[in-house]
Amino acid sequence: MEVQVMDHPLIQHKVTLMRMKETGSKDFRELLEEITMLMGYEITRDLTLEDVAIETPITKMTGKQISGKKLGIVPVLRAGLGMVQGMLNLIPTAKVGHIGLYRDPQTLEPVEYYCKLPDVEGRDFIIVDPMLATGGSASAAITLLKERGIQHIKLMCLVAAPTGVEKINADHPDVKIFVAALDEKLNEHGYIVPGLGDAGDRIFGTK
Ligand code: PRP
Ligand code: URA
Repeated sequence: MEVQVMDHPLIQHKVTLMRMKETGSKDFRELLEEITMLMGYEITRDLTLEDVAIETPITKMTGKQISGKKLGIVPVLRAGLGMVQGMLNLIPTAKVGHIGLYRDPQTLEPVEYYCKLPDVEGRDFIIVDPMLATGGSASAAITLLKERGIQHIKLMCLVAAPTGVEKINADHPDVKIFVAALDEKLNEHGYIVPGLGDAGDRIFGTK
């Protein structure tokens, strides 16, 4: 399985708080934003830099700045919305696209209902979605980006099941997967075990 598990102690601590069933929506959202920032710091490590001439109050110098087009962030609706602000805190100039997908409760197959992306030319993209269960939604989201000519895609999730990782590895071997936790399995309803329940419902307080 090709997946990078970001198990920094702060991330593990916060994921445990998110898993607890008594954690309410407000805390759940805040923790998700914090973990996204911690993961985002590491995921953006390979951004390219260029020299920039600046003047400090003391002297002239050559500093560094991120080069090229800024990143595209693509949340998979709804739950991926909970990870957007964390990424924008790190890269305020990133463009944000949206892909609307829901899992059919019977077949567990993803159903597309929305897709709006920024200018894709020369831009790298990070798809964000807290849950990677069967992998159907993430695989469909990656396919949608590729159909629009996007070549450099990373997938950032909070909790993954081995089934989901294996599906992305098989369907899109070029896409690197970053997760905060790799859980044991899926249950008969396609929920991650032990997981954290339905991420969208916990973020937005729905049932
Ligand atoms: C959740 C989650 C993922 C998907 C993961 O969304 O946010 O998008 O399930 O499952 P998969 O890997 O088996 O496809 P959901 O369909 O519950 O929609 P929601 O975010 O609107 O609640
Ligand atoms: N979607 C969720 O929100 N949670 C799961 O465990 C699986 C899919």
